[in-house]
Amino acid sequence: MSTTYTFSKEDLAEIEKIKAKYPDKKSPVMPVLWLAQDKFGHVNDDVQKLVAETLDLPPAHVFGVATFYTQYYKKEMGKFVIDVCTSFSCQACGAYDILHYIEDQLGIKAGETTADGKFSIQSVECLGACGYAPMLQITNGVYCNHLTKEKVDVILDKLKKDEMPAFERIPFPQHTTAKS
Ligand code: FES
Repeated sequence: MSTTYTFSKEDLAEIEKIKAKYPDKKSPVMPVLWLAQDKFGHVNDDVQKLVAETLDLPPAHVFGVATFYTQYYKKEMGKFVIDVCTSFSCQACGAYDILHYIEDQLGIKAGETTADGKFSIQSVECLGACGYAPMLQITNGVYCNHLTKEKVDVILDKLKKDEMPAFERIPFPQHTTAKS
């Protein structure tokens, strides 16, 4: 059992509720990893072991899920995690120029965290906003689309002041059709 990380009685009650929604032992892994990440800020090896023990699953299964998704942080991250999509559509629209520009502005490389603990950068796979490329996501929440270096400057300025940029909603075609 991990000595550093533990779930509270309330967490365990919540985990029981999550487990009750699923017919088997493996399926609750993702929501329980989310719960753990909300609580601890990351799901490092020890947190993954705690999740495995709590769900009575092999650690390798939890590790496989946690490491498949960049949205699960496998180590302590900065306050703002900047995920720059570098999959095909974004790459074709200059994602690496944007990524390298952000790296230059923050003085770190993708996979690293600034010394003050404020920013982490990740290069990630497609985030489903391909039509709005190049794009980034901030801390598993806000999407910023159609990036330019000037727009990145505005985003970073806001984050440095602890202001979260507005989420840029992606209108789906069916919504456009419904309105017209
Ligand atoms: S390729 Fe970047 S969001 Fe899909």
